[in-house]
Amino acid sequence: MDSFWNQLPQPAFMLAPMEDVTDTSFRELVMHISDPQFFQVVFTEFTSTDGLCHPVGRENVASRLRVNQSERAVLRHKGMKIVAQIWGANPEKYFQATRFITQNFEFDGLDINMGCPVKKIVKQGACSALIGKPELAAEIIQATKEATHLPVSVKTRTGIKKHDTENWIGHLIDQNPTAIILHARTQNDQSEVPAAWGEIRKAVAVRDGSGKNIPIYGNGDVVSVEDAIEKCHQTGAQGVMVGRGIFHNPWMFNNPQPEISTADRLELLWRHVTLFDSTWGRGKNFAVLKRFFKIYTSNFAGAAHLRAALMETNNPAEVREIIDNFLRTAETLDILSNSNT
Ligand SMILES: Cc1cc2nc3c(=O)[nH]c(=O)nc-3n(C[C@H](O)[C@H](O)[C@H](O)COP(=O)(O)O)c2cc1C
Repeated sequence: MDSFWNQLPQPAFMLAPMEDVTDTSFRELVMHISDPQFFQVVFTEFTSTDGLCHPVGRENVASRLRVNQSERAVLRHKGMKIVAQIWGANPEKYFQATRFITQNFEFDGLDINMGCPVKKIVKQGACSALIGKPELAAEIIQATKEATHLPVSVKTRTGIKKHDTENWIGHLIDQNPTAIILHARTQNDQSEVPAAWGEIRKAVAVRDGSGKNIPIYGNGDVVSVEDAIEKCHQTGAQGVMVGRGIFHNPWMFNNPQPEISTADRLELLWRHVTLFDSTWGRGKNFAVLKRFFKIYTSNFAGAAHLRAALMETNNPAEVREIIDNFLRTAETLDILSNSNT
């Protein structure tokens, strides 16, 4: 059955699910500054199926699936899709959690995390550990599909210790997920080594051999629209997922790149701080925002100094004061119009 995955332009562009990064506020900001021609799908942070099935912990875990009305409006306006990512090791929990999400939230798809290499998760037999348990992985995909009318995709890696792309992707294709997102590294690689895009080409060949219409998206080290187009051209992938590339350039889903001034960067930083604060209040630690300060304060005169000052802040008011001081000084020195991407 055709789903939105089969209707995306090629190459398609998506922002990777990232813990403590891709919450509703960051997704909204990135969508807002992106050209929908070069950006089509966003994902939630990974959300525990065990947690969603727990009567007490459920509410807290489900907050990861929050989609603000303002994010919903941008999704609609830009015609973009949003996918909830889930993880766990028990098919029954997948079934229940998927039912719960389908009945209570408004997502365009469900994605199963079969890629996370973090030790404490792998120890539970979940995420990338499932690459070593193909039968359980198959049961999980079936249980999830049975519980929803939404398309079910899988995000995974190429192997555990070594690339095992043909076997593993062949097995996944047998389970008929609606799409596969392949991070071109093994569990062992974590994110330390360059992504092996030759493995994406192998996965595409396996898919082609199967005769099935399951799109394959490559993930790993994509830094720009041109880079994505080139990687898809070389491998036959239907698109890319971008993770850390967004930290280097939040405007990366545009082509050509817009001229970004220092004032634009600081305005985006401020929007992020206020949106984060109005979304989470005290429900999330303000320190989570600090990882983003580097994103917005680079490539301009005085950036390092400004960043150091921002790192000391504890609330939006302190951030505002530091930005205002910086802007006043920059205006005096006439460096504000400096634009540099
Ligand atoms: C801070 C951070 C958090 C991440 N959280 C998740 C997650 O929740 N789910 C997931 O599937 N992958 C997660 N990942 C992996 C990314 O989705 C992506 O696969 C990885 O960063 C490789 O892509 P890149 O080379 O473009 O960064 C995370 C990565 C980072 C850097």
